Amino acid sequence: MSPIKAALFWTLTSVFCVDAIFAKDVGNEDVLFPPTLQPSDSGLPVGHLLPLGYQREPEGPVKEYTQPLAPTEFWEQHARDPYTPLVYRQAIAKAPAVTNWQSDEYIREKYGDLDVLIEKKIEDRMNPVRLRMPLSEFLDNYHHKQWYVVSLLPDPMRAEMQVPRSLLCGNFKDSILESNLWLSSGGTRSVLHYDADHNLHCLISGRKDFIMIPNKYGDKLDLADNQKAGSGFTHMNVDKVDLVKNPEVSEVPWTWATLHPGDCIFIPSRYFHQVRSYGRSVAATIMWDPFPKFNDSDCATRDIDKYTALSDVRLQWTYKKGDKVIDMGYMNVEMMRNIFLQMMEDEEIDKFTPETLSLLYAHNMLDEEEDEELGEEDMEHVRIVFSYMDKDKKGYVTAEELRGLDMETLKLVARGVESAHGPVGEDTGPRDEL
Ligand SMILES: *[C@@H]1O[C@H](CO)[C@@H](O)[C@H](O)[C@H]1NC(C)=O
Repeated sequence: MSPIKAALFWTLTSVFCVDAIFAKDVGNEDVLFPPTLQPSDSGLPVGHLLPLGYQREPEGPVKEYTQPLAPTEFWEQHARDPYTPLVYRQAIAKAPAVTNWQSDEYIREKYGDLDVLIEKKIEDRMNPVRLRMPLSEFLDNYHHKQWYVVSLLPDPMRAEMQVPRSLLCGNFKDSILESNLWLSSGGTRSVLHYDADHNLHCLISGRKDFIMIPNKYGDKLDLADNQKAGSGFTHMNVDKVDLVKNPEVSEVPWTWATLHPGDCIFIPSRYFHQVRSYGRSVAATIMWDPFPKFNDSDCATRDIDKYTALSDVRLQWTYKKGDKVIDMGYMNVEMMRNIFLQMMEDEEIDKFTPETLSLLYAHNMLDEEEDEELGEEDMEHVRIVFSYMDKDKKGYVTAEELRGLDMETLKLVARGVESAHGPVGEDTGPRDEL
């Protein structure tokens, strides 16, 4: 046999062997992505009842870079409207996590006592289930249960995670909201959805495939109607796209990306994405909220090429051992403060009252016009939330006082006026639900 034939033979047999061994839970490298379109028999549309991606050829891969862009370029080319995704190859390659978190034993030993939130591997937004447990309990069980850690990255673990240079100056650095940990034995599948925040999703272990679709195609994608606070999802079964029910899916252009350990993908705010993982999978994400203008005033003086750990930057929402709640998905509290101040300016008032707060509450929670009246029960809730800010119980706060509110007070208010876009995780449900 010629060397080429031998190599080909080896590749084919190894693919077949792997297929046979992992017929149920496929391994890391043996899933073809993007898929090859299958010709349709029986006159049904191409890709009917096949996974998302089989209905139309992709436009191509997501644009990729071998070195993360400097913050100003990242802003100009990707993070300002219209937002465009990108892939950074090996952007966190130097992070200790990429070496250390390959081992469950390491994670158990060092971080096993920290609590995480657990979801189902196959996401179901109509019947969300959520548990809270120590990482050690998760690691003891995750190979035989359908469990998926989707949780705030516990504070101590941030020390082993790197922040890519694109986020190391200007508003990026100041607007990081939270970082999340994703950990499973593989075979996870998200629904097709979009989030309010920008997200840098970095893979530490395993393989993840992404299907990316611009937000403007939402009306072809069977959107659920309870879209909230800038996030949303589709009802489509991503494993079996029904083209009789949703024929327009075939018209939707998409791009794709496959991440390997050390790689990151920028998933812009409101950009649809569908994510699948293969093999043991660990990822860390960094989220921040979009801003309209880039203030680069500190970029000339900051050393963005110095290795920076995630523990060296400020995040708004964090979790450490002993915290009663693990709150994910809340807004930027500095932005909330600015909205309050702006409301006072727009309404030309010098006293911020429960009624002022109720306008924002109605806007966020009821998804109604801002001048809609709140019911008495909602109003009672708003008064309680207001009382966190009104420390001397005057019945109002001034702009001066708003400017002086500390972060913890603002968080209490944020938890009260906005429902989180992600799990909050106080309750520990029965273990057998998952
Ligand atoms: C830009 O950011 C700096 C701090 O980094 C701040 O002092 C300055 O006021 C900001 N400029 C504007 C126009 O917001």
